[in-house]
Amino acid sequence: MVRQDLYRHCMSVMESADIPDSDFDTLCIFQDVLKDKMPLLLPYMNVEAEKEAIILEMVERRISGMPLQYILGEWEFWGLPIKVGEGVLIPRPDTETLIEDILEIVRKTGMKSPKIADLCSGSGCIALALKSEIPSAEVYAVELSEKALVYLKQNVELNKSDINIIKGDVLSPKTSEMLTELDIIASNPPYLTAQDMAELQIEVQKEPETALFGGNDGLDFYRAMTPLWRKSLKIGGYLCYEFGMGQEKDIERIMRENRFTDIKFSRDGGGIIRTVTARKTEV
Ligand SMILES: C[S@@+](CC[C@H](N)C(=O)[O-])C[C@H]1O[C@@H](n2cnc3c(N)ncnc32)[C@H](O)[C@@H]1O
Repeated sequence: MVRQDLYRHCMSVMESADIPDSDFDTLCIFQDVLKDKMPLLLPYMNVEAEKEAIILEMVERRISGMPLQYILGEWEFWGLPIKVGEGVLIPRPDTETLIEDILEIVRKTGMKSPKIADLCSGSGCIALALKSEIPSAEVYAVELSEKALVYLKQNVELNKSDINIIKGDVLSPKTSEMLTELDIIASNPPYLTAQDMAELQIEVQKEPETALFGGNDGLDFYRAMTPLWRKSLKIGGYLCYEFGMGQEKDIERIMRENRFTDIKFSRDGGGIIRTVTARKTEV
């Protein structure tokens, strides 16, 4: 089949299966398989039978509810290639807000070689983005899931990065005691509520529950991590979290209860209050 006919076929199959953004998804699949950024510039070029079969198989997987990112096996975060697949959370553009917040802190405070920990690191997207922007930083990525750690290691190699991976439970003092005198803690922990989990989109259901579920009200990790990891921060250090839509009041309360000051929130690209940064100013 020629590219244009195959493209139309894939799009119509996806549309009839109610896949949103079927045009975009088809384009990404074509780009990936044909290794061509603009595959439709040559609409009458024949697609080899083997490649056609691969494309059709990817479309089938997409129709079954598999996220596009898992099918492609790689996604971009902060301009960096990030390997993803079943068992690891797909990096979201909202999380780039946390990177912007931290770069602003580093710029404003004039930190030269900050010691940074990314807790609940998953694919490593936060740690890798920070290390790429602040090459002099000493960056640690902490993750518990074996499956996620496989991707984290691959992503460190893929990006030729020099970050330190720690396999550990962020809720355990054994892990927090391994990292002391930190300038910055960044974390995007699981924060979905029990109700969110019951209403997940089919694609998100394919992502690991351990990366999503934050307890009944979604706040379990913030309640446990804030007092625990406070001890690992230097005086003057910053704790920076991503959180879910509408959780800001509870997050502010947790930060205040743990004597953090300079509490600031930022909005993501969609205008939703998405991140907090707060400073430890006393022992
Ligand atoms: C919301 S995902 C964030 C992943 C990545 N930082 C990102 O922003 O895309 C949360 C991550 O926390 C990990 N996680 C869950 N419980 C953990 C624990 N007790 N200790 C360490 N990591 C944990 C999950 O495996 C998952 O990779």
